[in-house]
Amino acid sequence: MFSITNSVGLFGMNAFPVTVEAEVSRGHTQFDISGLPDAGIKESRDRVRSAVSSVHIPFPKGRVLVNLAPADVRKSGSSFDLAIFVALMQATGLLPQQMPDSLFVGELGLNGMLHSIRGVLTMTMLARKNGFRAIYVPAENVREAAVIDGIEVYGIRTVSELLEHLQGTHPMQPAEVFEPVISRSRETVLDFCDVRGQVKARTGMELAAAGGHNILLVGAPGSGKSMLANRLPSILPEMSREEILETTNVYSVAGQLSMVHPLVTERPFRSPHHTVSAAGLIGGGSIPAPGEISLAHNGVLFLDELAEFDRSTLEILRQPLESREVTISRAAGTAVYPCNIMLVAAMNPCPCGYYGSTQKKCTCSRKQVTSYLGRISGPLLDRFDMHVDVDPVAYEDLASHDKAESSAVIRERVEKARDRQKARFAGTSIYCNAMIPDHQLKEFCHLEPAAEGLLRAVHERYALSARTYSRMQKVALSSADLHGHDAITREDIAMAVQFRGFESKYLN
Ligand SMILES: Nc1ncnc2c1ncn2[C@@H]1O[C@H](COP(=O)(O)OP(=O)(O)OP(=O)(O)O)[C@@H](O)[C@H]1O
Ligand SMILES: [Mg+2]
Ligand SMILES: [Zn+2]
Repeated sequence: MFSITNSVGLFGMNAFPVTVEAEVSRGHTQFDISGLPDAGIKESRDRVRSAVSSVHIPFPKGRVLVNLAPADVRKSGSSFDLAIFVALMQATGLLPQQMPDSLFVGELGLNGMLHSIRGVLTMTMLARKNGFRAIYVPAENVREAAVIDGIEVYGIRTVSELLEHLQGTHPMQPAEVFEPVISRSRETVLDFCDVRGQVKARTGMELAAAGGHNILLVGAPGSGKSMLANRLPSILPEMSREEILETTNVYSVAGQLSMVHPLVTERPFRSPHHTVSAAGLIGGGSIPAPGEISLAHNGVLFLDELAEFDRSTLEILRQPLESREVTISRAAGTAVYPCNIMLVAAMNPCPCGYYGSTQKKCTCSRKQVTSYLGRISGPLLDRFDMHVDVDPVAYEDLASHDKAESSAVIRERVEKARDRQKARFAGTSIYCNAMIPDHQLKEFCHLEPAAEGLLRAVHERYALSARTYSRMQKVALSSADLHGHDAITREDIAMAVQFRGFESKYLN
């Protein structure tokens, strides 16, 4: 007997339809699966065999052949187990021969239990797009799938539960559509009210948050760089539904969602240690998994102690930072992961940490300072829209009893600035000022004549790169958004210039 059923495969973020065909014919007892890579075949066979015996059904006698089509696409993972089981049950006559509107994904355990798999959200999106009526997923993945409406989602705990449902003896109800509650776990969020003094650095963080700009914090030890960076999430705007789905998709594929957190509703904040490998940062593996930069999608990637990172590891960030996606090529195919991030980095200006400080004398030689700063390449520096000098906190500020402005107040201003950007970029795929492509700069950045004059003067004085020229305008536009006006003024440009001090202060 021959049967056919539907499943989905996954490579990177890319889901693709797979049909599972099963044929039981006379001959020697044998069970073969074709169309899977070698290692997967044996294991999948064993799991399916065990699941069949868990429901006390004798394994089909004779020659059992299962084929996963298309054969020329490399398939991996264990997510086809459930569809293979269903196809076998169809071929033995225990289930209807044809269920063309249903799709099955899930890994089988040895006793017929279903185990969670990666990428269920992505798979469900594909299923709906391709017009399926129902998708059957492991119970642990059901909430992730139920975010998608317009398709029935069934969460399956065991294969016997699935059989009873499909045979009609114990029909199940599809899961209710899961509406994400956009909330912030406010208690756990670090607050800007703890940061005393540091007026300039606070302004810098607010401006960066307003436009989604990459920002580099440079300063002496203990000046509060890590403290400032760790508080950035508390002033970032809430995620849109679109962003939630995008980021959840990355976590779904990375297998990092749980029943408790089926959706990523808070902007990610990733701070990998400086010993992170290139693959850990950018993504990798034979079937490429997303790296830290993609797990930070629509959020923040924080590189603390930037100068301690391996230089070649940092260099590979350059291209993804520009294109806002990572492309990883393998023999098996090419995976593309999004990485629309705000890059935040902190570093000391020299080995002793006090170069350029007004408070303490630097004990490093000129050569030491140059070689320390040289660990960050010019092109990478260029990718920071803003540099902030973080000076040690003044004693009066530390001793003062006044509470500084809280994150909630700052966030309100940031949200207002982002509302202006939402209106500005309506109908485009741009979310914030930092994302404006250079060729559309003229379209969105309108400079008043005085602003134009200042920009020209600064450009000539510091021989800025073309990239810096456009980045400064985007930062100035965020300043305009924070202040609630459309055209960029001289003050906005001055604000952007103020946060470009690194080259002039440290590198000349
Ligand atoms: N502006 C500030 N207001 C209040 N406390 C501060 C401030 N700056 C620093 N501190 C205190 O100093 C500690 C160290 O700050 P933090 O770790 O952010 O410094 P850092 O600049 O990252 O130093 P390093 O260069 O050594 O990494 C903080 O935990 C905090 O207690
Ligand atoms: Mg620090
Ligand atoms: Zn020094």
